[in-house]
Amino acid sequence: MSVLLTGGAGYIGSHTAVELLNLDKEIVIVDNFSNSKMSSIENVKKITGKDVKVYNADIRDKEGIDKIFKENNVEEVIHFAGLKAVGESTEKPLEYYDNNVNGTICLLEVMKENNVKKIIFSSSATVYGISEKLPITENMKVSAFNVYGRTKEMIEYILKDLYESDKTWSVVLLRYFNPIGAHESGLIGENPNGIPNNLMPYINKVAAGKLECLSVFGNDYDTPDGTGIRDYIHVVDLALGHVKSLEKIKNTSGVFIYNLGTGVGYSVLDIINAFEKVNNLKINYKIVSRRPGDIAVCYADATKARTELGWVTTKTLEDMCKDSWRFEQNNN
Ligand code: NAD
Ligand code: UFG
Repeated sequence: MSVLLTGGAGYIGSHTAVELLNLDKEIVIVDNFSNSKMSSIENVKKITGKDVKVYNADIRDKEGIDKIFKENNVEEVIHFAGLKAVGESTEKPLEYYDNNVNGTICLLEVMKENNVKKIIFSSSATVYGISEKLPITENMKVSAFNVYGRTKEMIEYILKDLYESDKTWSVVLLRYFNPIGAHESGLIGENPNGIPNNLMPYINKVAAGKLECLSVFGNDYDTPDGTGIRDYIHVVDLALGHVKSLEKIKNTSGVFIYNLGTGVGYSVLDIINAFEKVNNLKINYKIVSRRPGDIAVCYADATKARTELGWVTTKTLEDMCKDSWRFEQNNN
C-alpha cells in the first residue's frame, strides 16, 4: 500500500516525503517538474537513506496517471501539485484554472476509476480573503480575491461536492498559512526561479548578496510596528500535519478542514530582526509603499488541528530563520 504525492518534488511535498519515509511509509511521487528539480528527490533519498519511486508526469495526463495508479497499490493521495504565484495567476488565469482546477478534476477522475477515495489537499489561508475576525477559524466564510486563491476555493467546493455525492470519500482540506524554513540538513528547501515574491526567499537572496535590498511593503498598517503580520510556519511542522492527516483519513470518511499555522503572528520587521540575530548578519532593507492585494494581518486559530489531529508545532521563528539561511548557503 502506498501514498501518492502529486507535486512531491516541490517545496512542501519533498519535506512531507521525508517525514513519511522516516516512518517507513511507501510513497510514490508524481511531478511534472514545472517548478522543481529531480535533485530534490535525490536529496530526499540522501536524507532518509530510502528509495523513492518517482514519475515525471502531469496530473492532467489521465492515461499516464491511471497507469501509475495501476502499477502501484495506491491507498491515499496527498495532492500538492499546483501553480502558486499570486501575481502570475492574475496575468495567466486560464493557465492557473487549467493546471489547478482541471488538473485536480483529472486526478479525482482517475482516483474514482481506481476506487481510491482518500485525499489530502493543499489549500491555503488565502481562501479566507479579508477575514472578518482574528485569529482565523475554519468556520469563517471563504472569499478569495485573487485567481490563485479562487482556484483553491473552487477545488475545496469540488471536493466537498464529491463527498456529498459519495459518502465513502475521505477528504482533508489543509489551509496552510505562511510556510518558511527548510529541512535541518540544508539539503531541501524553497528555491524559487528568478526574483522571489515571498518574504523569506527574498531575505535569503539579500543576505547572500544576490539582491541588493529588501523592499518592505508598507509601514502604515494598523499593526504595532506598521508592517504586515503573518503566521509563519516551519515547513517541517507543516509536513508533519500531513502525516497526522493521513492517520485521520485511514479509517474515517467525511470532509475535514484544518488551518495549519502556529497561531502566532509576526511582522515583517520581526522576521528581519530574527533573521539578523540568529544568523549574525545585516539585511539591507527600505520601506516602500504597500503591495496591492496585501492584507494587514493574518494568523490562524490552530486549535482544531491540535484537538482533532493531535498536531502541534514545535519549531520556533529562530529555527525557521536558521534553517532557511542554511539551505540558501548550501544550494546557491
Ligand atoms: P512548489 O511549486 O514547490 O510545489 C508544487 C509542485 O507541483 C512542483 O514540484 C511542480 O513542479 C508540481 N506541479 C505543478 N503543476 C503540476 C502538474 N500539472 N502536474 C504535476 N506536477 C505539477 O510549491 P509548494 O510551496 O510546495 O506548494 C505545494 C502546494 O501547497 C501547492 O498546491 C500550493 O498552492 C500550496 N500552498 C503553498 C503555500 C506556500 O506558501 N508555499 C501556501 C499555501 C498553499
Ligand atoms: N513582504 C515584503 N517584502 C517582500 C515580500 C513580502 O514586505 O519582498 C511582506 C508582505 O507585504 C507581507 C509579508 O511580507 O506582509 C508576507 O508576504 P509573502 O509574499 O511572503 O506571503 P503572503 O502572505 O503575501 O502570501 C503567502 C503565499 C500565498 C499564500 C499565503 C497564505 O504567497 O500563496 O501566503 O497565507 F496563499
